[in-house]
Amino acid sequence: MRILLLTHAFNSLTQRLGAELQQRGHEISIEFDIADSVAEEAVVLFKPELIVAPYLRRAIPESIWRQYVCLVVHPGIVGDRGPSALDWALQTQQAEWGVTVLQAEAEMDAGPVWASTVFPLRHARKASIYRNEVTQAATTAVLQAVERFAGGSFVPTPLAACRDARGGLRPLMRQADRTIDWQREDTATVLGKINAADGFPGVADSLFGVPCHIFDAWPESTLRGAAGARPGALIARRETAVLRRTIDGALWIGHVKRAGEIKLPATLAFAAELAKFAAELPEAPLDGWWRADHETWQDIAYEESGRDENAVGFLHFEFYNGAMSTAQCQRLRAALAWARQRPTKVLVLLGGADFWSNGIHLNVIEAASLRDGSPADESWNNINAMNDLALELIEVGDQITVAALAGNTGAGGCFLARAADLVWVREGVMLNPHYKNMGNLYGSEYWSYLLPRRVGEEGARDIMRNRQPLTAQAALSSGFSDACLAGDAQAFRIDVARRAAGIAAAPDFAARLTAKRERRAADEAAKPLAAYRAEELAHMRRNFYGFDPSYHVARHHFVRKSLASWTPRHLARHRDLGWQG
Ligand code: COA
Repeated sequence: MRILLLTHAFNSLTQRLGAELQQRGHEISIEFDIADSVAEEAVVLFKPELIVAPYLRRAIPESIWRQYVCLVVHPGIVGDRGPSALDWALQTQQAEWGVTVLQAEAEMDAGPVWASTVFPLRHARKASIYRNEVTQAATTAVLQAVERFAGGSFVPTPLAACRDARGGLRPLMRQADRTIDWQREDTATVLGKINAADGFPGVADSLFGVPCHIFDAWPESTLRGAAGARPGALIARRETAVLRRTIDGALWIGHVKRAGEIKLPATLAFAAELAKFAAELPEAPLDGWWRADHETWQDIAYEESGRDENAVGFLHFEFYNGAMSTAQCQRLRAALAWARQRPTKVLVLLGGADFWSNGIHLNVIEAASLRDGSPADESWNNINAMNDLALELIEVGDQITVAALAGNTGAGGCFLARAADLVWVREGVMLNPHYKNMGNLYGSEYWSYLLPRRVGEEGARDIMRNRQPLTAQAALSSGFSDACLAGDAQAFRIDVARRAAGIAAAPDFAARLTAKRERRAADEAAKPLAAYRAEELAHMRRNFYGFDPSYHVARHHFVRKSLASWTPRHLARHRDLGWQG
């Protein structure tokens, strides 16, 4: 079928649905919901048989839903309506939640139901639920609804007749509903409120007496600050986060957005205030890279399975949104260099739960311009730190390395993963192994070495030029990755550990390691890594410092979440010159 995806943005859910529908032979084109007239034009050009709306922020115009069946994805159980579905579900601690696919009609979220799915609701961040459970449930429900539509005889059930309708109309959640009372509410309640607002809009609060929105909270089980520290007081800092006392414990706050600014690591957003109150907020470092044995915030954590000669090391790096600043890359490189010295045979890089890596930290780079710094210099430092990290990984000679991707991965993060010997991807993960969407960025991280050896010169050119997301399955069949593993995050983690242990114990381990070293030596002799890096960085220097400001403009709009004013041509196929409708 010819299916138009009408969406507010090409977010990971839209990417997943588009790819899944395409894999089933449907012809897909995408239009951003910018204005009624734009959507109407897209419909005229593409002449879709069906419209699917994965992520909308406003109603579909009547001129369209009267003529076409429009299937709208609502992140709520049957009967639930309103723009804050997940926020309310989390804040009211529902045990089960779901996704409903409804047909667009005059009243928002009230049309007849084509399909629905439910899932147990984790106590987690809204954005994490959206990227995992909601995306999975929406994929199942949309594929079922599309099949039903294609069958021709299915009659969707009017909401009033749905026997499983348990939800109701909920208003937009306001900041007043999210307010934290630090003097009365316990750690679990505060954490629940911050989670229900993460990554948008955050909870309106204040730090150092300055109004801001807070995000990215982690419970702390041991530190309590000085005797007499009052609930709500800041009591310590660690790397990018600050620790705040609650009535029964403490919480780390990782990210904040000051009024009129962008979302940033807390210690960067409040750098001046932290310098002033340094004595009251002592640094609370962790002891080395081993995973702490208590509940705390630890962005880089190492663990090992098996203490025998077949031990496997696991390196976690939980960086918010998968973005990796210069300092984070440098710390991760230090951790990797340390992990290389451990007596292990296999080293698994697990990244974070929701993202493996999304490359250089565009918000921290943008912040340089807010503080009289140079975003070009910060971009340059960041890409060099990413490259140093990738090089450290490529040069691991005594272990087989595995990048195990439980979460989405984009741009430089994909090539950092490819710097490992093996890349295993969880089914359901979306990969974006290309850079051009960010203002035509050329990219580095040794991609010009790492990619063609996997997918061929032409394959590499296609991936970079087409700028399309890859499902885990597509990444495997293109040669980009080495395995696609089924299951949820927990099952994936168990499978990864089992496979890694299998490699460590395999009789051919020594031969495998020798082959890897020989290949690296031969590659180095043919063309040194330093040459690939120099070529890539020559392009990047032009992107950062040259006369064409595209990268700086694209980054500015990306971090400020500017509304799109057109759909990129590589997505809106119906707008191609020569398109035959
Ligand atoms: N730096 C800073 N923030 C980043 C980031 C980066 N490299 N990549 C993603 N983010 C942030 C987004 O701004 C968003 O922030 P929010 O919490 O305020 O909403 C959050 O991560 C999630 O991103 P989103 O785009 O909503 O996630 P997605 O899963 O739908 O899409 C990508 C994933 C990878 C397609 C998309 O995030 C992207 O294009 N990122 C930029 C990658 C890039 O160009 N990196 C630099 C070149 S190496």
